[in-house]
Amino acid sequence: MEIRTFGDDTLRQRAQPVGDVDDTVRAECARMVEAMIRAGGIGLAAPQLGIAKRIIVLDVEGEFHVVINPEMVELSGEDEESVEGCLSVPGVNAPIVRKTAVHLAGTDLEGDAVEIRAEGFLARAIQHEMDHLNGVLFVDRLSTARRKSVLKEYRRLQEEET
Ligand code: NI
Repeated sequence: MEIRTFGDDTLRQRAQPVGDVDDTVRAECARMVEAMIRAGGIGLAAPQLGIAKRIIVLDVEGEFHVVINPEMVELSGEDEESVEGCLSVPGVNAPIVRKTAVHLAGTDLEGDAVEIRAEGFLARAIQHEMDHLNGVLFVDRLSTARRKSVLKEYRRLQEEET
């Protein structure tokens, strides 16, 4: 399954809540995990596969999570700037300010409630994937000038590839 890239409409939609966690949803989660691993990513949101549903998967520093209908309970800690990239904007990265701690609630593959309290890199990855569910890409969080320069570089790389 192809990962959607910058310019794709699904990436800009607000993803819809998942109803019952059934075999269809579990199969979509499995496709997400497979795509994330194949791409060497540390996280993926369903819209990146063209699936407009509220599902994220994470594989950060040995912590693996599939979260359905994730809700940000609390963002806390400090503001911290660190370099981010995205499988949907391949080849470029930029420093993004995020909170250092998150408390996330959601549902697992069995339909049971899960909670994740994370700091550092996992907290950052969660904020990045949550943005995807709201149609937001990391480049949207840059200043206008910085975004223009990052996207210019992205388009240059895309043209080189074709
Ligand atoms: Ni991303």
